[in-house]
Amino acid sequence: MEPSGTLDSLAQELRVFRPLPQLVVEANVNPQELTAYRRQAEHDPLGYWEEAADELDWYKKWDRVLDDSNAPFYRWFPGARCNIVYNCLDRHIETANKNKLALIWEGEPGDSRKFTYYELYREVNRFAGALRTLGVGKGDRVVIYMPPLPEAVIAMLACARIGAVHALVFAGFSAKALRSRIRDVDARLVVTADGFYRNGQIIKLKPIVDEALVGGCADCVDSVVVVHRAKVETDMQEGRDFWYDDVVRRERREAPAEVMEAGDPLFLLHTSGTTGAPKVVSHCHGGYMVGVNRTLNHVFDIKPTDIFWCTADLGWITGHSAVVYGPLLAGTTTLIYEGHPNYPQADRMWHIVSKYGVTIFYTAPTLIRMLMRFGPQYPRMHDLSTLRILGTVGEPIGPETWLWFYRHIGRGECPLLDTWWQTETGMFMISPLPISLLKPGSVTRALPGVAVDVVDREGNSVPEGKGGLLVVTKPWPAMMTGVYGEDGEAQYRQAFARFPGKYLAGDVAKRDEDGFLWIQGRADDVLNIAGHRLGTAELENAFRAHPAVAEAAVIGVPDKIKGEAAKAFIILNPGFAGTVELMVELQNHMRKELGPVAAIKSVEFRDELPRTKSGKILRRVLKSRETGEDPGDLSMLDDESEQAG
Ligand code: PRX
Repeated sequence: MEPSGTLDSLAQELRVFRPLPQLVVEANVNPQELTAYRRQAEHDPLGYWEEAADELDWYKKWDRVLDDSNAPFYRWFPGARCNIVYNCLDRHIETANKNKLALIWEGEPGDSRKFTYYELYREVNRFAGALRTLGVGKGDRVVIYMPPLPEAVIAMLACARIGAVHALVFAGFSAKALRSRIRDVDARLVVTADGFYRNGQIIKLKPIVDEALVGGCADCVDSVVVVHRAKVETDMQEGRDFWYDDVVRRERREAPAEVMEAGDPLFLLHTSGTTGAPKVVSHCHGGYMVGVNRTLNHVFDIKPTDIFWCTADLGWITGHSAVVYGPLLAGTTTLIYEGHPNYPQADRMWHIVSKYGVTIFYTAPTLIRMLMRFGPQYPRMHDLSTLRILGTVGEPIGPETWLWFYRHIGRGECPLLDTWWQTETGMFMISPLPISLLKPGSVTRALPGVAVDVVDREGNSVPEGKGGLLVVTKPWPAMMTGVYGEDGEAQYRQAFARFPGKYLAGDVAKRDEDGFLWIQGRADDVLNIAGHRLGTAELENAFRAHPAVAEAAVIGVPDKIKGEAAKAFIILNPGFAGTVELMVELQNHMRKELGPVAAIKSVEFRDELPRTKSGKILRRVLKSRETGEDPGDLSMLDDESEQAG
């Protein structure tokens, strides 16, 4: 066992990228201002966040910025009253933003719908009124089980407007998973669609809701509202099911926004559950909007002319903070796309970028890796010159993927911002700004007002060049306000229990000699090879540096001599065959890249890897199959056949 409880780091990344001078001149936050923000946030963090709160509208201001008397149950802006939707919509229709595009939607068949801020405001008011007519009120939970449609955004905002609490469930979840999620949050109403387009097919959704509601949930859910998207035949249960168009048609008047306490719940959301059963995290109106608004504006340098495209599904936290609430708080134009990224072929994303003149493109490494496999000829088919900032989130991107994205999509000119955050954090926590120095694969450093550290198992900061557990050492405004459900309080406390006063993120990270942070993977996935503790990201990134490798997942398997040894699961790029020679070549490649510690015991070539529905690799599924251990909760697994296998 290692004496210090730190993580070893084998990789060295020496490449550094600087922003173009013009970009620095035009940035909303220039280097001097960033330094000033950092200084202010360090000396007076509450003053820093108070100024951020002052940029938004409140019905009543706070008695104090933070009440930490019952830590770790922190209360941000106690005494304040607000509604996040007022700040997303009402505030903008008093300004020149009234007639600006708030939302652009592209359907998979190529159809398109656009909403100005005023039009979105009107639609949200109508559906908010309809929800009230259906008996939904403040504090009631509404499950939104929807594909990416404008009505999904409208439903989120309509719930929040009347103080109801939305809980989104990704439309790829099965009836069983939907049922347990409806139960987890005790939903009164479900909003869904008849169906939607995905990969050239119509996926019917309403029958899945019907199945989920048979037995079990029928007692809590009174109504189901169905959006007519795919125009497929749909069974409607009299008295329970309503067409969206019918319920909004009756609503003519504005639905006033409910005045909420800052800490009142805005939404519930299940975590992705890569390393265990998902938790139901809650976020509130006040602190959440302050944190999301400030960090999104800082990181993405929002300008009045931007078209902001975050490709995440609405059902994840990224969909909440970076598709809906963040962009609308910032008064920018947000874009959503209904369908498959490769439909009808591998240039669809780039086609959309050029069609609407997208300026900021924010996505996940998984998607980039998938598109990389098709080659750079697809982005080359389109004019991507409107792009000015790129971003990623969700998994370690690794240098190879970073460089491909930077060069082939960003022309080597657009800053590529790797943002680290979580469902629990609500807002971006660690990220560069467009003016920052970048190292491919590093999330750089914490944003102003966010305090993080990398610690060993005793809670001491690790020396430079070493890795350890990533912790957040001070409360932040968009932090989860709790975990919903019977064990919720215990689950919430657990995140702060190991090192009192510090939030344990569950990730491992390294800090290099320049103070840059590198996320190394989930702490539960760390390998222990002959006393060397290694994060999965380092090994997987090194694999990806080989031209044959499209995707890699590494797990630890028991080994008589070393205690644990690394086993790799590899997806190959087109044109490569999984031969014994290639396996040996990859083992040699790893030794060369990372040294003898990174000896790979075996390599298995695969066509697919088990993933969550949000695209993260589920290493515990691979591991359970190797070791016979119980894989735990599998409701988030993307391919149901993997469960059986
Ligand atoms: O492991 C980290 C990884 O995603 C986890 C959070 O997942 P979720 O709650 O689904 O939220 C994802 C979107 C905010 C983290 O604990 N993760 C997130 N961003 C990064 C990342 N890993 C490496 N680099 C990132 N930029």
